[in-house]
Amino acid sequence: MLISFIAAITITLPEVCTSRTSGECFQNLLEQIENITAQVLPLNTVTNILTVAFSASEKILESSSAANPTELASNGNRMLKTSEKLISTLVKPTDTSDNVSFTLAAVEGQVFMVGPNVILNKIPQLDTTNSSVDIDLIGIAKNNNERSAAVAIMSYNTMENLLKPDFFNTSNNTIKTMMSTVISATLPKTTNTKLTKPVNFTFRHIREFDPSGSLSCVYWNISEWIVDGCSVLKTNSSYTVCSCVHLSTFALIMQTSRPPESDPLLELLNLVCVIVGLVFFTLALMTFALCQWSPGVNNVARINICISLLLAHLLFLLTQRFLSLIRPQQVLCAVIAGLLHFLFLSGFVWMFIEAVLLFICVKNLSQISSKKREVLSSGFLCVIGYVVALVVVCVSVGLVPEGYGEHCWIKLDKGFIWSFLGPVCVILASNTLLFIKIFISLNSTLKSLNAEVSQMKQTKIMVFKTLAQFVVLGCPWILGFFTNGSKVLEILFLILNSQQGTFIFLVYCVLNHEVRQQYRKCFRCLCCVKQH
Ligand SMILES: *[C@@H]1O[C@H](CO)[C@@H](O)[C@H](O)[C@H]1NC(C)=O
Ligand SMILES: *[C@@H]1O[C@H](CO)[C@@H](O)[C@H](O)[C@H]1NC(C)=O
Ligand SMILES: *[C@@H]1O[C@H](CO)[C@@H](O)[C@H](O)[C@H]1NC(C)=O
Ligand SMILES: *[C@@H]1O[C@H](CO)[C@@H](O)[C@H](O)[C@H]1NC(C)=O
Ligand SMILES: *[C@@H]1O[C@H](CO)[C@@H](O)[C@H](O)[C@H]1NC(C)=O
Ligand SMILES: *[C@@H]1O[C@H](CO)[C@@H](O)[C@H](O)[C@H]1NC(C)=O
Ligand SMILES: *[C@@H]1O[C@H](CO)[C@@H](O)[C@H](O)[C@H]1NC(C)=O
Ligand SMILES: *[C@@H]1O[C@H](CO)[C@@H](O)[C@H](O)[C@H]1NC(C)=O
Repeated sequence: MLISFIAAITITLPEVCTSRTSGECFQNLLEQIENITAQVLPLNTVTNILTVAFSASEKILESSSAANPTELASNGNRMLKTSEKLISTLVKPTDTSDNVSFTLAAVEGQVFMVGPNVILNKIPQLDTTNSSVDIDLIGIAKNNNERSAAVAIMSYNTMENLLKPDFFNTSNNTIKTMMSTVISATLPKTTNTKLTKPVNFTFRHIREFDPSGSLSCVYWNISEWIVDGCSVLKTNSSYTVCSCVHLSTFALIMQTSRPPESDPLLELLNLVCVIVGLVFFTLALMTFALCQWSPGVNNVARINICISLLLAHLLFLLTQRFLSLIRPQQVLCAVIAGLLHFLFLSGFVWMFIEAVLLFICVKNLSQISSKKREVLSSGFLCVIGYVVALVVVCVSVGLVPEGYGEHCWIKLDKGFIWSFLGPVCVILASNTLLFIKIFISLNSTLKSLNAEVSQMKQTKIMVFKTLAQFVVLGCPWILGFFTNGSKVLEILFLILNSQQGTFIFLVYCVLNHEVRQQYRKCFRCLCCVKQH
């Protein structure tokens, strides 16, 4: 009777499951297994039924109802129950100790039995490929009148598709990743199942461990993963040991924080701002190149801010646009990241030089008596502007060769990002200080001049120029440290820092008297040919 029943399942299943909807087939199959009344089954029968059941369960995952969490959990529960029932039929009475184990594609199982005359004082660790269990079975057997006990463990390779890590409900909204196979442990045919010692699970991580993530040892309770009674005992990059005070179905789940959601509007704004910024960088550079400047004017820092940031923003924009193409080319990606690191850094160094030059200029203005010019030579400035950035990049690469990450930018972990943020912080702090000093001395100079040049318009332009200078010197980049999820600050940051070129153009080209004269000349040549 039993044999024919089993033959019936194994033989009829393929037709049953292809002709009917897979869900119905699966439910019917599980019902048949639940109806099995035999207490003991041979190993190959158990493995055959398990193979059929797991292949049927994979089929139902392909069906449409697979997205319904309640259905997934309920199918998962039935699979667990069925498997546990089947593996318990492998338990046979023993006088001393015995063990049975099997390995299938979807599931691995181990049963260990001890009897009244067991000679071991500790049972060996129960091993499957990716996890192992330590349980005090001898102690449990001693607590039983029959002085016998059995433990069955199963390691399910595909169960995470049914018992999803998302069923672990936590207060913080994190991404959950299954880090181990799902493993269940039961004490079949054992009267007193009270644990004498906590049971310890050693899970091998089946996915790469993210050091910023947090691990939780969880167990399955009807419809969700919960932590109660389980804890992480110890962990390293490839293994975690969990300790639990009860038996059930266990897993190791990693929580990592969700990357901030990208806002399409914000991205569009960013794109527009960066492109506008790039246009003005180019216009400013063209003005610097084509106009004749009076001999005392030192534009070298402004020109190089424009060059560095124009290239940096352009490269960054292109890289982000074509990230999917560039990312697979790891060397190219790292080279681009290094180049971006260098260009942005040199941009900041030039902002610092600009601030220093401006400071020197303003000081000379307020102490007209001292004619001593402290302006440094352009060649020397160029060496500082680019060599400092180059040295920082080289030292960083030398110390942390793998510091450039998968977004073709600096990796944010391992502190490597400070090879960029460190110099930037120092420069921003000094530029802000210099700006304040410049502002104060300019203010007092203006006040003393006010009697003579009491023109409102001139003052307004002066105020605007000062504020624009604040942007040109990169001071609004400081906002980046305080955005902290605030949309308004983020937008302000985005607008101000993409427009450094625009402000340079406004201050040094549009509002510059000499340049305006030359523009006027040009316009006259271009438009007013008829007048001549
Ligand atoms: C299982 O047993 C119940 C009665 O105990 C019966 O109604 C049902 O048809 C059986 N299922 C299968 C698939 O044999
Ligand atoms: C498990 O059983 C096999 C024989 O079936 C035996 O050789 C082996 O020693 C047993 N292992 C343990 C730990 O008892
Ligand atoms: C599990 O680990 C805990 C803590 O190290 C230990 O007290 C307990 O005895 C271990 N359990 C088993 C079954 O070895
Ligand atoms: C179990 O470990 C092996 C070897 O590390 C690995 O190839 C396999 O994918 C793991 N199983 C699962 C379900 O990840
Ligand atoms: C998860 O927990 C929160 C409370 O912490 C609760 O409001 C929510 O309904 C739970 N979600 C599920 C799917 O259980
Ligand atoms: C499952 O959770 C319910 C309530 O959330 C609790 O009453 C029950 O004891 C839990 N089951 C197990 C096996 O821990
Ligand atoms: C991690 O822990 C496991 C088990 O505790 C151990 O076998 C392994 O050697 C450890 N690996 C490292 C890299 O420390
Ligand atoms: C989520 O919260 C838990 C405790 O509430 C904490 O241990 C874990 O680190 C948090 N995870 C993240 C990614 O914030």
